[in-house]
Amino acid sequence: MNVLDTLQRPLRNLRVSVTDRCNLRCAYCMPEEQYKWLPKRSILSFEEIARVVGVFTSLGVDKVRITGGEPLLRRELANLLRLLAANPKLADLALTTNGVLLVEQARELREAGLKRVTVSLDTLSPETFRALARRDDLGRVLAGIQAARDAGFPELKLDAVMIKGANDGELCDLLEYAKSVGAELRYIEYMDVGGATRWRPEHVLSRAKMLERLAQHYGRIEPVREVSTAPAERFRLPDGTVFGIIASTTSPFCRSCDRSRLTADGMWYRCLYATVGINLRDVLRSDASETEFAELIASSWRSRADRGAEARLAELSRGASAGREKLAQNPHLEMHKRGG
Ligand code: GTP
Ligand code: 5AD
Ligand code: SF4
Repeated sequence: MNVLDTLQRPLRNLRVSVTDRCNLRCAYCMPEEQYKWLPKRSILSFEEIARVVGVFTSLGVDKVRITGGEPLLRRELANLLRLLAANPKLADLALTTNGVLLVEQARELREAGLKRVTVSLDTLSPETFRALARRDDLGRVLAGIQAARDAGFPELKLDAVMIKGANDGELCDLLEYAKSVGAELRYIEYMDVGGATRWRPEHVLSRAKMLERLAQHYGRIEPVREVSTAPAERFRLPDGTVFGIIASTTSPFCRSCDRSRLTADGMWYRCLYATVGINLRDVLRSDASETEFAELIASSWRSRADRGAEARLAELSRGASAGREKLAQNPHLEMHKRGG
């Protein structure tokens, strides 16, 4: 079954947040020290998540990415992965983490059936890490990346949000590091989304600028020709090294976007920028049949018209969309609640 939205985009890619908590405080995502956390009783159990994922896979979803907050903070996460890995319709099962807890968990996650890991790594400088993430954990993250390597994940990606004046001096250093550990680096444009209350247009390092600076250092950079719905465009250095750029701010990929998000408390958002979600927790905890559940999701997807990042681009020069008061009123708008 293949459900299409109003722009003929299929429902294929589901991002499942398993907790809204995080052990870092990255300036672009969770700049405050304290947040109002989702109440415990509202958090979906692993069985509930596996059931929702089952409904989504019956409608065409075949890629699931586990996100947070920081997903490795969710206790016994490997048990969820085992449940999901048993679903034969899931071709891809990936996870995005900040890496702090990977040393302890990489092997178990791999054995539980996780196929791919993406680690966020914005800097190689302990001082910049402390300034950006407000914790002293760079050493643990680097050890975590090594642990993911040792656990035998066939594919490892590193995501770096580039912010002018913070880490943009490290474009080449990050790429050299990724090469040295056999990972694919993706540079991400800083987005005005969710908790990014300190976002300013002048802090965005655009894809064009990134490519210009990289070319100054490495020489000619070629685009990798491929057909894909992934947000990252890939490029190749003269020595063959491949890296990606996710230009969600200056060049959104909404036209081909097949992704949606489930929060840890079972709200379903059809766009990263959506302000209104659909409460699947109440449906899960009601006596609705699988067919009714699937029909609700399918009909909501058919009416989807979202192009959040494109709409945001139309007014690029204005400041951050959400201030602290707006987020306090609707905490589900925060990036750490709906998964990065
Ligand atoms: P794969 O290609 O499957 O490896 O994953 P991915 O490219 O989706 O990677 P990942 O989930 O790590 O996302 C990377 C980054 O892309 C995120 O951290 C965001 O910055 C950005 N991004 C992810 N999803 C969306 C989205 O739905 N809309 C927009 N505009 N940006 C997104
Ligand atoms: N801009 C770009 N990417 C962001 N992420 C979180 N907030 C932002 C933002 N404001 C993404 C980063 C991070 C992941 C967890 O979420 O890629 O690594
Ligand atoms: Fe998809 Fe919305 Fe992101 Fe555009 S902004 S790529 S429609 S999730």
